[in-house]
Formats: sequence, C-alpha cells, structure tokens
Amino acid sequence: MIDSRFVRITEVGPRDGLQNETDIVPPREKIALVDALGTAGFPEIEVTSFVSPRWVPQLADAAEVMEGIDRRPGTVYSVLCPNQKGVERALEADADKISIFTAASESFCQRNLNATIEESIERFRPVVESARAAGLPMRGYVSCAVECPYEGAVSPEQVGETVRRLLALADGDIEIALGETLGVADPDQIEAMLEEVEIDVPVAAIDLHLHDTRGKALSCVERALECGVRAFDSSCAGLGGCPFAPGASGNLATEALLDFLEEGGWTTNVNRDAVLAAAAIANRITGRKSGE
Ligand code: HMG
Ligand code: MG
Repeated sequence: MIDSRFVRITEVGPRDGLQNETDIVPPREKIALVDALGTAGFPEIEVTSFVSPRWVPQLADAAEVMEGIDRRPGTVYSVLCPNQKGVERALEADADKISIFTAASESFCQRNLNATIEESIERFRPVVESARAAGLPMRGYVSCAVECPYEGAVSPEQVGETVRRLLALADGDIEIALGETLGVADPDQIEAMLEEVEIDVPVAAIDLHLHDTRGKALSCVERALECGVRAFDSSCAGLGGCPFAPGASGNLATEALLDFLEEGGWTTNVNRDAVLAAAAIANRITGRKSGE
C-alpha cells in the first residue's frame, strides 16, 4: 500500500553546500560527509556536479568524490550536469541519476550557465540522450522559481514556460525540481507558482528546493504540503548557496525539515540521529555552526 503520509527528502548538502564554500574542501572530507549521510537512509543524496572547474573550482574533484564514496543500497547518488562533457564524466563516474539545471530568469541563466534559457536547453539535448541510453533517471531544475537575484520578481508563467521546455526536451520523463534560489519566498508566492506548474505536472510529482535566507522555508513547506507536494530538498546543517546567486543563503536544514515533518505526522524513513552526526561533520568542515 502506498503511504500517503510519506515525504521524500533529497539531501543536497554535499553539492549545493560545498559548491559555495570559499575554501576548497578536500575530497576525503566530502566523502566522509556523503558516507555519514548515507547511513541516514535518504532516498537520494546529491553528491556533486560535473561542471566546469573554471566556473566552480570547489567541485573540480567530482570524479574522485564519486569514486571514494560508499554507496548504500536504496539510496540514489545523483549529480548535476550542464552539458555533454558533464554527462560523459558523470557516466564514467557511474552516477545513478543525472540532473540538468536551467532557470526561469534569463539573467540568472546567463550568469550561471553562460547561456540563454534556450541555449541551455539545447546543451541538455545530448545529456538527456546519454542519460536515457544509460537507463538513468533525470531531474530538471528550474532556478529562480519565485525571484531572481538580478531581475527581481519572476512570474509563475515564466516558471511554467521553463518547466514546459524541460518536459518537452525529455518527453515528459523527467522529475521537475523547482528552485527557490534566493530563499525569500512566502507561502502565497509558492502556492501561486505551484498552481501554474500544476497545469503541466501533477503536484505530487514536483520536488521543491527551498533556500532559507529569510527563515520562511518551513512555512513554505507547510503550504506546499497542503497543495500536495510530497518531495523536498534540504541540506544537513543548512549548508547551501549558489556562487552565481548573490544574497542567497543556505538550503532549508534537513534537521529542521525532519522535526517539522515528524510533528505533522509525516514519515520520511530518514534517521534523525544519523543526520545530526552528518551535520556535525558539515560544521567541522565549514568551521561554522548549523545555519550560520
Ligand atoms: P562556458 O565557459 O561557456 O563553457 O561555461 P565552455 O564550453 O566554453 O567551457 C569552458 C571551459 O570549461 C573549457 O575548458 C571546457 O572544456 C570546460 P578550457 O578548454 O577552457 O580548459 N568545461 C568543462 N569541464 C568539465 N566538465 C564540464 C565542462 N564543461 C565545460 N562539464 C558551463 C559553460 C555550463 C560549462 C559553465 O557555465 C558551468 O560549468 N556552469 C556551472 C554553474 C554551476 O554549477 N552553478 C551552480 C549549480 S546551479 C544551483 O546551485 C541552483 C540549484 O541549487 C537550484 C536552486 O537553488 O535554484 C540547482
Ligand atoms: Mg540550490
């Protein structure tokens, strides 16, 4: 029987968090973090990105990290890929899932990928073909789902348009992840955006990726659950941020999300103690306390 109270959490700290550290974290530390998270039983851990090391030197060690981690059965180890070179490296590293990423805002797409939204979609064509040929599932991120660091407010229609482009690219066979990149949204904005996206994707199939700059991410989770969303991204210790999104802080903290869901009677099958142990490793790596 399907558990209607089940919420799927993707832990994105190793990728979204460690891409944003000023000091480059050694691969052995990243491997320790991913392995600690692996013991928590997440359905998916986003490990790293196969992007240009010129653009994101923090993740230049992606292959070494993928090689070093201890993969737990039942956990999908996913990676980000912006182009053909990225997917070639990801397949070589035996990634379980390929995530492509574009935006609802042209200015952010340009800063993040050096491409228009349309160009980014064209670059994903070989990524989708290769992922498909390898039988791997895919995720398509839409960043700036509510606001853009360069253009300000982003309309739900702009988000819906980018979602449609991703769906068309993958013939519908792609998980849509909506990125609230800046962490500034309030629940009404999330609801309005979801209503638009729902025209093309059942809300129960949508993943919500919330940053938490203004401390409103949990109230957005609450509203999204009311709207029918059942999948969220979060980061242990609230790691996270994007080097191309000035002003954005970390992702919603996994520990906070777990507590919130448990209080509401939702199940996740994620072990909180193991997450706290991983968060302690994250704090040691970054030299900060959770959420700082
Ligand atoms: P470009 O400079 O236009 O690309 O960048 P290029 O094709 O001219 O390549 C430049 C150099 O990078 C070349 O090396 C390529 O070989 C190399 P050179 O010949 O100069 O030595 N290169 C690569 N190397 C390794 N792996 C690759 C790769 N591709 C090119 N895959 C490019 C275009 C897309 C490559 C660049 O803009 C890039 O890598 N961007 C990544 C940006 C990024 O990772 N941003 C953070 C992730 S998105 C995010 O955080 C948001 C999210 O969390 C959701 C949310 O919160 O909203 C997902
Ligand atoms: Mg993010």
